[in-house]
Amino acid sequence: MVRAQARGLATIAGQSGIQFGAAVGPWLWNERDFREAVLSDCALIIPEFEWKWDRLSHHGGDCDLSPIKRYLAFADKHGLAIRGHTLVWHRSMPSGFPASADRETAIKLMTGHIRALVGCGAGRIPYWDVVNEAIEPEDGERGGLRRTPLFRQIGPDYIEIAYRTAAQADPAARLVYNDYGLGKTWGAARREAVLRMLDKMLSRGVPIHAVGLQSHLKVGDGTFDPEMLTWFGKRVEEMGLDILVTELDVAAADGGSSDAEVAGVYGEYLSAIVQLPNLKSISTWGLSDRYSWLANEPGGHGARPLLYDARMQRKPAWDAVAGALAERIPL
Ligand code: XIL
Repeated sequence: MVRAQARGLATIAGQSGIQFGAAVGPWLWNERDFREAVLSDCALIIPEFEWKWDRLSHHGGDCDLSPIKRYLAFADKHGLAIRGHTLVWHRSMPSGFPASADRETAIKLMTGHIRALVGCGAGRIPYWDVVNEAIEPEDGERGGLRRTPLFRQIGPDYIEIAYRTAAQADPAARLVYNDYGLGKTWGAARREAVLRMLDKMLSRGVPIHAVGLQSHLKVGDGTFDPEMLTWFGKRVEEMGLDILVTELDVAAADGGSSDAEVAGVYGEYLSAIVQLPNLKSISTWGLSDRYSWLANEPGGHGARPLLYDARMQRKPAWDAVAGALAERIPL
């Protein structure tokens, strides 16, 4: 299917060779106004939660693959790319995953899950967030690894096993390591630990191709430092890895923020991001305030973190993103 010419952010981003995308949920299927905005602005879609392990399986085995197939059919019909999200994340472990499983059993369940999902979309899902948020220096583990269930049950090599399994299931997929706080003033230990992990993996020939910067921002929190972001992006580029902005949204300040203030944060952040030569895509975590995960986070009520309001009207943030995308040198 040749993709109908998109009029919005996808076109602006495409002029400099990057994809604009957004996380979407089941409202994509039954809300026409939301779907039309996605088709206008996005070249890339990410299932926000429907592909997570805890949504597809109760015990960790025998996943229901119908959500994968539904997104594949939609993407094929409309000429969209998909980034699979996310194969291994400590916050989306199946509720019935056997906490007492030994290493061998845990490896069998994890690799079976990865093979099922990646194999289902082989050749049709260009990016996968394989391991999400594996770094947490405050856990005190070697290398700053987060003490996740699979870290405890398999060991630190669960990361390598996950990426090798995904690559075997779809050699064409670009495999992403996704994390947060990597451009933040408080993220020095995280940046160092992520870079060390990536360097170790790449030196062992582990197939990792890109780093996902989640990019959950907040008005007025003063923790974004463009120089740190640029420094980190350069280190990642030197490793030969791509950079993806994977979950961009802008929370209001604790006392509330105007749409103009939210737009200002989008513009400032993306003006630094679009200068990264190895940037491949920018995705917001949702497209409309009608559905933002922040509404369910502490203090998130009434959240207005995205590019469209709940009535699907473009907000100043949309213009700020369009302006920043246009700053990137065209191909
Ligand atoms: C969130 C989704 O938006 C929610 O709908 C779900 O209930 C929990 O997960 N970082 C991530 C995403 O990598 O997977 C999370 O998404 C937000 C934080």
